[in-house]
Amino acid sequence: MQKKRLRRTILVTGIAAVVLWAGGSIAENQLQAPEKELVIEGKKPARFLHATHLEMGLTCGTCHHDEKGSPLTADGIGSLQDPGKLRCVSCHNADHPDKKLQSAKDVFHARCKDCHKAGHNGKKGPNKCSSCHLKKK
Ligand code: HEC
Ligand code: HEC
Ligand code: HEC
Ligand code: HEC
Repeated sequence: MQKKRLRRTILVTGIAAVVLWAGGSIAENQLQAPEKELVIEGKKPARFLHATHLEMGLTCGTCHHDEKGSPLTADGIGSLQDPGKLRCVSCHNADHPDKKLQSAKDVFHARCKDCHKAGHNGKKGPNKCSSCHLKKK
């Protein structure tokens, strides 16, 4: 009898541990702002570092929004699972209902260059082509 109970205790503890472990790994799998600099691919690839922009106090929704254009929160991004859905050109392409929002150049320059020019809390960003665009190899 004693042995049977012990075995059951071990089994139950084991299942609990597996459930906890799985729960933990789901949280870790949530999409977060990448720490490394990323390259925005396109005809004229450009670099972008989240850290610089988050340190200024910008929220995710300054740049990321949903299919209606409503700002996304960090939690909203976390539950997306597929980073491909955050790619700007996944919506801003020839299928976008607004013609002025179809080209990568227009939407990125509107979002990136306009703020760099106007500044954020009195701090301007770089506006030389080569400060964002990678040199051709
Ligand atoms: C603040 C950052 C930033 C600056 C400064 C900037 N760009 Fe861009 N630009 C981007 C990003 C991001 C993209 C999107 C990447 C892509 O589509 O290849 C882009 C896209 C483009 C494209 C579109 C490529 C296509 O798909 O047709 C062209 C052309 C371009 N930029 C030219 C320029 C020129 C010329 C300058 C300087 C006068 C400049 N950019 C300055 C960020 C910038
Ligand atoms: C100043 C603009 C800006 C802000 C603020 C910003 N992001 Fe991004 N993020 C971008 C751009 C641009 C990309 C690349 C999109 C593309 O490739 O089309 C990106 C890509 C991502 C990706 C996908 C990376 C990959 O591996 O493809 C994740 C995840 C992400 N952002 C999370 C976040 C989270 C979470 C926040 C808020 C804490 C945030 N971002 C704030 C501009 C921003
Ligand atoms: C899931 C689809 C989707 C994705 C992904 C997306 N957009 Fe948009 N975006 C829209 C829609 C829809 C609108 C029009 C909203 C409206 O009409 O009010 C819009 C509007 C805009 C505008 C013009 C209005 C404004 O907010 O200034 C800019 C600029 C823009 N997007 C840039 C971006 C950038 C940069 C990214 C990537 C970081 C991005 N978008 C990702 C769907 C998307
Ligand atoms: C709301 C304002 C704002 C937006 C939106 C924004 N930036 Fe910036 N960015 C800044 C400011 C301000 C700085 C200067 C930060 C500093 O000097 O500490 C900067 C710095 C940079 C730098 C140089 C420093 C570094 O991180 O390497 C690059 C490259 C850059 N931004 C690219 C982009 C691109 C690409 C986008 C669009 C996807 C973008 N930024 C959108 C405000 C903005």
